[in-house]
Amino acid sequence: REKQRLLVVANRLPVSATRKGESSWALELSAGGLVSALLGVRQFETRWIGWPGVNVQDDKGQKSLSSALEEKGFIPVFLDEETVDQYYNGYCNNVLWPLFHYIGLQQEDRLAATRSLQSQFSAYKRANRLFAEVVLSQYQDGDVVWCHDYHLMFLPKFLKEANSRMKLGWFLHTPFPSSEIYRTLPLRSELLKAVLTADLIGFHTYDYARHFVSACTRILGLEGTPEGVEDQGKLTRVAAFPIGIDSERFIKALETDMVRSHIQKLRGRFAGRKQVMLGVDRLDMIKGIPQKLLAFEKFLEESPEWQDKVLLVQIAVPTRTDVHEYQRLTSQVHEIVGRINGRFGTLGTVPIHHLDRSLEFHELCALYAITDVLLVTSLRDGMNLVSYEYVACQNTKKGVLILSEFAGAAQSLGAGAILINPWNISEVAASIEDALTMKEVERKERHRHNFMHVTTHTAQVWADTFVSELNDTIVEAELRT
Ligand code: UDP
Ligand code: G6P
Repeated sequence: REKQRLLVVANRLPVSATRKGESSWALELSAGGLVSALLGVRQFETRWIGWPGVNVQDDKGQKSLSSALEEKGFIPVFLDEETVDQYYNGYCNNVLWPLFHYIGLQQEDRLAATRSLQSQFSAYKRANRLFAEVVLSQYQDGDVVWCHDYHLMFLPKFLKEANSRMKLGWFLHTPFPSSEIYRTLPLRSELLKAVLTADLIGFHTYDYARHFVSACTRILGLEGTPEGVEDQGKLTRVAAFPIGIDSERFIKALETDMVRSHIQKLRGRFAGRKQVMLGVDRLDMIKGIPQKLLAFEKFLEESPEWQDKVLLVQIAVPTRTDVHEYQRLTSQVHEIVGRINGRFGTLGTVPIHHLDRSLEFHELCALYAITDVLLVTSLRDGMNLVSYEYVACQNTKKGVLILSEFAGAAQSLGAGAILINPWNISEVAASIEDALTMKEVERKERHRHNFMHVTTHTAQVWADTFVSELNDTIVEAELRT
């Protein structure tokens, strides 16, 4: 049987390009959960449409980059600098992202955002149109078109206007906030109406789906049903599809020489410390990195016997560096790390090893495999796949997962993790102590739950479930008319 053709449309392509010469390009794997999960989906014949992360205006550049991407099944959407600034930095990452994660901007930034709202919103629509044009140029009858994330809320509308028979799904990788928060968004109705043109709308958790349905009923006055949202007899199906990872890829990687040799090296480097804790996050406000550091400081303060025995390795992957709020966060984090290391360090060692960069896959696997505790302190997080990846790599060591109750993953890994409220740093400090001293029997039992979940609820299962639900939804809609 032929594989189903799937057009994945997301703002970010799995690789981001840097120009090396007139027609030569370096492609680097993009960071973030959306890309990792979708790369694990291999059962379809997939074409991926997205922004290559670079501004290319000349014909020669666009052609050469397109053909470099073509080999991998990736199709670029070229956006000019002004559009990237207004659409990506502005509306997506300075308005929608903070709002969907319940994060308030500082007053001055909020006013600036209010002032530029109209121009940012038109750039957002313009960008969505450009994505639609590229999708339409690739579309063949029978394709499933799967749009992703808050960058592309207008895309379903533009696509359906061009072809009402297109099979179209939209999935949100972030939380959808309570309608009380969502309704403060000035252009709240336009966005909701635009996504409602999709046939199926998916979220990571049932709560996010419920918030979305109540935003539609309260703001648009539509009818919410257990199936989704109804507008004059037309149903848009809304449901929860928790994402997962390609767990096999991690488990297999642990057997490779590359990961083994990283493990050797890291063991040597960590030799002086009894236990090592790990944090892996994009350097984003939602990850609660300052809160994590303050909790670790409190733990060191209250447990002096641990001061020279525990190390926190924090990988902070740079992200969205043109947005003011992210620049501010970077300096804030550096200041806190400096203070804690100054306070508890000695001539030979410091308690926090902080890196502002991304890691290569095998290096990351090695860190996941040999550390004793993973600390996830997100203030809000759609799912958090780093916690899944850690569990997948811990089958030998059975390390402890400390996980924020505000990450979507708390609903799936809650049985095995120590759940915390990241705003309560005393509670987090106490959980660090519990994790570092937990007996092996308990660690094994907790790990067993999580490992079972992570290896059965994979990215492949997620995509299969979504696509077959989309196909069913369309068959049912046809029966109804
Ligand atoms: N990751 C990465 N480069 C790194 C470290 C991590 O690409 O240097 C990946 C990590 O493996 C994970 C993703 O980034 O798959 C982060 O996903 P998560 O859902 O935890 O958070 P997001 O970044 O999407 O908010
Ligand atoms: C989150 C979002 C993704 C995004 C990723 C990285 O996972 O849900 O849509 O791709 O962060 O952010 P970036 O802005 O670099 O694409």
